[in-house]
Amino acid sequence: MAPGVCAEPFGVYVHVPFCATRCGYCDFNTYTAGELGGATGPDAWARAARTEVALAASTVVAGPLQTVFVGGGTPTLLDPALLAGVLGDVRDAFGAATEVTVEANPETVTPALLDALLAMGVTRLSLGMQSAVPHVLAALDRVHTPGRAVEAARLARAHGFGEVSLDLIYGGPGESDEDWRRSVETALGAGPTHVSAYALIVEDGTALGRQVSRGEVAAPDDDVLAGRYELADALLTAAGLPWYEVSNWGSPCRHNLAYWRSHDWWGIGPGAHSHVAGTRWLNVRHPATYAARLADGVSPAQGRELLTAAQREDERVLLGIRLAEGLPAAGLPGLDELVGDGLLERRPDRHGERVVLTPRGRLLADAVVRALLP
Ligand SMILES: C[S@@+](CC[C@H](N)C(=O)[O-])C[C@H]1O[C@@H](n2cnc3c(N)ncnc32)[C@H](O)[C@@H]1O
Ligand code: SF4
Repeated sequence: MAPGVCAEPFGVYVHVPFCATRCGYCDFNTYTAGELGGATGPDAWARAARTEVALAASTVVAGPLQTVFVGGGTPTLLDPALLAGVLGDVRDAFGAATEVTVEANPETVTPALLDALLAMGVTRLSLGMQSAVPHVLAALDRVHTPGRAVEAARLARAHGFGEVSLDLIYGGPGESDEDWRRSVETALGAGPTHVSAYALIVEDGTALGRQVSRGEVAAPDDDVLAGRYELADALLTAAGLPWYEVSNWGSPCRHNLAYWRSHDWWGIGPGAHSHVAGTRWLNVRHPATYAARLADGVSPAQGRELLTAAQREDERVLLGIRLAEGLPAAGLPGLDELVGDGLLERRPDRHGERVVLTPRGRLLADAVVRALLP
């Protein structure tokens, strides 16, 4: 790839593809030790990731690095020294980021882990809580108790993490409206600065997908999901965490905000996506293939695509309309109808006018996107 100059702000995503066990609903690119069969473990992953950081540094002329996001998988399964090595190389290559997020599974959080994360410059912890109700957690195959996520969030705040986020899932098998209310209220009781609430997606190829197709578990109902979204929005807003993206409330994650604003980022790790200077690509998915490529001096990227102006414009609309800041109205098709249907509202702006999803529009965001794209 020819050297690229990134638009500012520039972000780095680091993908850690390991989990202790696999949750039945999850189709992320992650592997248990049993699935890898000793093929490529954390040490080889870290060596390869550090080689890819060097590749990124030699390829991209980036502005100051703004954000780093370490996601997974379960980044906190790693020996912290491995993560510190990768993050140290990112800092040496691109400068210190102002926001460094690490995703953590609640059962992995200990005072020693939090100390290690703070020492390597992590500023934001994102905990996968999912639910506060034991039978819902069990149906989602989560291995932590309901109290563990709350305890981990409080511990992180007490340790000095200025930003702590909790991920919740609604519409899990057997979940009632009251269960969902309890999950949101319990999450708020932990004092997070940010909450993500996702409707359960039944992914093909997962254990949950197979249970649903065999008729053993009912797929989440759209009306039920809409009611749970509205309840979450009301509770989170009342608690001082306003929405800033359709599924996110509170003090924004600046890394994801940059992604929704179509800024540039380099994704390090197996299966990671990148978007740099108008080109996007996807790394090979399997950790063994990823490590082998980098060990041989070969780029792990595949499916490289130079985006056309039309594709870039579609992405700007597709991603930007999800944000509470909305999009400039100029040039967007079909606005009168979308405003008339109560899906979008017009807001004056110092440069003209913007359009923003209404509460009903947020429930039907995918339909709004389809109407806005040519
Ligand atoms: C892939 S996980 C990685 C972080 C960490 N391993 C965990 O489980 O919290 C990131 C988040 O994606 C969300 N997620 C994953 N699969 C999902 C699905 N099928 N439907 C809805 N949300 C999902 C969960 O809320 C989870 O916290
Ligand atoms: S949801 Fe998180 S812990 Fe569960 S399999 Fe996916 S990445 Fe791993």
